[in-house]
Amino acid sequence: MKQTSLRLLVLLSMLGSPLLADDVIEEAMKKFHKAPDGVDTISKKVSNKEASPQELADILKSYEAMATVTPPRGPKSSWDEKCQALISAVKKIQAGDAAGVRAYKKAVNCKACHTLHKPN
Ligand code: HEC
Repeated sequence: MKQTSLRLLVLLSMLGSPLLADDVIEEAMKKFHKAPDGVDTISKKVSNKEASPQELADILKSYEAMATVTPPRGPKSSWDEKCQALISAVKKIQAGDAAGVRAYKKAVNCKACHTLHKPN
């Protein structure tokens, strides 16, 4: 019994660790922003209006997960703003709103976010 509660405690502290946040963000970057040479990323497809409904749903889920974690660096308020901008842009594209792609291109600015939030 004692052993079990100890294990539970260890598990809970692991769940709350910053490592998990990094995993969510890294997973999103690898899956949607970074692609092998010569292959368009899903992010690029979204900017080019070529993403399928499934790809839009997947990338939205990923941005929503990013929005729930604390960034490894930089103010949480700025992080929230950037994640929300990505989320709202993808939702606009899903709804067929022509302003969505423009908003997405602005929101997915790699450098603007990395400068503030990516650890060196
Ligand atoms: C909303 C903020 C944000 C935007 C926009 C963003 N990134 Fe990132 N990215 C991050 C953060 C934060 C990390 C650091 C993750 C970590 O180390 O925990 C990161 C890490 C990465 C990594 C390293 C992943 C790894 O394996 O550790 C790559 C590659 C990357 N981003 C590519 C891109 C590209 C390409 C774009 C633009 C198309 C982009 N990112 C846009 C926040 C962002």
